[in-house]
Amino acid sequence: MRTNLVQEGANELSYEIREIVDFGKSLESMGVEIVWENIGDPVAKGEKIPPWVKETIAEALTDDKTFAYAPTKGLLETRQFLSKLREKEGTGMLDPEDIIFFNGLGDAVSKVYTNLNKVARVIGPSPAYPTHSSAEAAHAGSRHITYMLNPSRNWLPDLFDLRNKVQYNEQLAGILIINPDNPTGMIYPRQVLKEIVAIAKEYDLFLVSDEIYSNIYYGSEVFVPLSGMLEGVPAIIMKGLSKEVPWPGARCGWIEVYNKNHDPVFARYIKAIHDAKMLEVSSTTLPQKVLPKILSDPRYKKYLQSRRDAYQKRADAAHKVLRKIEGVSVVKPSGAFYLTPVFDPALLSPTQTLPIRDQKIRAMVEEKVSTFKPHELDKRFAYYLMAAYGLCVVPLCGFNTDLYGFRMTLLEENPEVFEKTLKILATAIPAYLSS
Ligand SMILES: Cc1ncc(COP(=O)(O)O)c(C=O)c1O
Repeated sequence: MRTNLVQEGANELSYEIREIVDFGKSLESMGVEIVWENIGDPVAKGEKIPPWVKETIAEALTDDKTFAYAPTKGLLETRQFLSKLREKEGTGMLDPEDIIFFNGLGDAVSKVYTNLNKVARVIGPSPAYPTHSSAEAAHAGSRHITYMLNPSRNWLPDLFDLRNKVQYNEQLAGILIINPDNPTGMIYPRQVLKEIVAIAKEYDLFLVSDEIYSNIYYGSEVFVPLSGMLEGVPAIIMKGLSKEVPWPGARCGWIEVYNKNHDPVFARYIKAIHDAKMLEVSSTTLPQKVLPKILSDPRYKKYLQSRRDAYQKRADAAHKVLRKIEGVSVVKPSGAFYLTPVFDPALLSPTQTLPIRDQKIRAMVEEKVSTFKPHELDKRFAYYLMAAYGLCVVPLCGFNTDLYGFRMTLLEENPEVFEKTLKILATAIPAYLSS
């Protein structure tokens, strides 16, 4: 090409959660049955959508207006519903005009970083959910800046590290938290949120809180919405239907903007996000139409509780098995539906393997891992695990961290398959580490 077509940040875009799928699909075509533990989609893992939710959606389809465009910000009655809901929850005043709907939270994440001044950076947690870290890095054309979540301290954020980076990096304009967190399952305790708000206030930063899992908590720590503790700090709170209803195929997420007018630059930035959405006209109408009915249905709370109970049961079972495996440490998750065991790095090497009887499959995985960078030791484990046992997990190197480990889910609806998954890990990890 006469001119370079590739953006400066193009190398920052990676999504291991789906990249690993190609290899799994090749294995499937060779007769290997794969248990997909890579994607956080409850429906794909067998979650049954309650009939009353389906009936609510079917009823919305009888109204022709459901087929129309929504306003750019989203249906007014839905935004008014959310505003009233926050008032009821006592988590801060939210003007319906300060809510913007998107085609899934992934779309919102992309708009939030794309419309940020290139030199303004947002620091996020590490391990990092790659949709945020990649989009933020791509907007700046430079690696995502992170603060550490510490696996030795229940994955709590290292606030000393955060404060230090904020203090010495003038480009930092915002702090991202993902609460409950993907991939660690950690919930930010109230005191930690308080300290993060204090840092933002002291250094004149804005906050982004991705709360897509806000109703999925089941451990000792209870989810605290950031909107109730902002003390005037401008913030973007992110919510969505993908994990909660769950309805990832609806592509429905939204941002709630707090304290917009406390800073004119922040207000202008939010207007840019809105204007960018306006160029796309609007977001999906159907999920917005049914959102108030689903969230206010008396059966919804009960349904959410039944899902929390199921995740808690699986978290307990997985923790019980995995904590006994030498060479990995594991924190029991309190929220979202992931679990992330971490390897002792001293026990990993670039020559480890798992026995694979089928010669063709062995050759295929050997060829694949030969293309990996020397430090991608957990990626090597994940590919061998898939080739040898048909279990697809996501290596932690896909989450912007120096830690080695992998993410699995608590979503498997078939108890026999879940138990078998844990058994495979209890066998495969020691075999791999001692190979
Ligand atoms: C923390 C977090 N934020 C955002 C998203 C994207 O959600 P959506 O399906 O609404 O695009 C996900 C999806 O896994 C997620 O885990």
